[in-house]
Amino acid sequence: MIRASRAALGFLLAGCSWQQGALQPRAPKALAIARLGDFFFWIELVVWCAVVGAAIWAFSRAARRDRRGDEPLAAPSDSQQEHKLSRAVGASTVVSLLLLAVMLVASIATGRSLSDFGASPPVRIKVTAHQWWWTIEYLGRSPDERVVTANELYLPAGQPVELELTSADVIHSFWIPNLDGKHDLIPSHVVKTRMVAEKPGVYSGRCAEFCGYQHAHMDLLAVAVTPTQFEAWLAGQRQPGAEPRTETQRRGRELVEGEPCALCHNIAGTRALGGVGPDLTHFASRATLAAGSAPNDREALARWLRAPAALKPGAQMPAVPLSAADLAAVVDYLESLR
Ligand code: CUA
Repeated sequence: MIRASRAALGFLLAGCSWQQGALQPRAPKALAIARLGDFFFWIELVVWCAVVGAAIWAFSRAARRDRRGDEPLAAPSDSQQEHKLSRAVGASTVVSLLLLAVMLVASIATGRSLSDFGASPPVRIKVTAHQWWWTIEYLGRSPDERVVTANELYLPAGQPVELELTSADVIHSFWIPNLDGKHDLIPSHVVKTRMVAEKPGVYSGRCAEFCGYQHAHMDLLAVAVTPTQFEAWLAGQRQPGAEPRTETQRRGRELVEGEPCALCHNIAGTRALGGVGPDLTHFASRATLAAGSAPNDREALARWLRAPAALKPGAQMPAVPLSAADLAAVVDYLESLR
């Protein structure tokens, strides 16, 4: 109840979407963190009420004296009064230290409960942060099972997965509040952790460490589906990019393979073999463009291709000069890559 009202307050203050919130835990780790948050909340509420109550009592006492026309309270003159005051200050200090110690112990205990024990789960996913997007790599049991995608993390609901988290450039932070706490991502350092989404659902995550100009446009979507749907999704992702079905799409593919696009992006089954930008093999299956900067639709994609810097200033993606017809063909082709 109290967590729901705190969540509602957070929602109002932050204008967040329903899918994102540390106060609606959907995984054991997020639940442990939320419980710690509740515990701190109650302690802080009691302390706040005590302090505000004491302040109101003191002010109203002074106001009453004022109304009666009494002399204002002077500094304690006798040693008995001074002794009383020191005792009150001493007692408040001891209570504060005790409360802080209790909070410290609870915090350490929660931290320990988040440790991963036991054998590694079979699904291993490497997540690499970039300025300002994510590579998601399903490592598989053998190289031919490897799947690379971007900005969307599919998870089998109810099954733990092992995440290997790292960064390709600067320090980022991986955070899917409904599922787990934050993990700092440091270049050339791999953090291993486990994650389990209890139920199917779409949980919004983001980079939680300021990492440059477009830090605010570095979203990540965690999509938890049933294990059967997950296997089907993985099998689909292992397929090469869809073959063009229309003349325009064929023209679009030619442009993508010939223009600078192919130097940075990979589309399995084509001559686009770049490894700098996001893998586009199943680009059209993703919900957003440029890591949450815009919905993935024809209109936004055309805008993005025409002037990436207008949609996401500072992004590495250069503008590729294309005629209106060529731009439409590229959009047609990319939006066919389901
Ligand atoms: Cu990456 Cu902030």
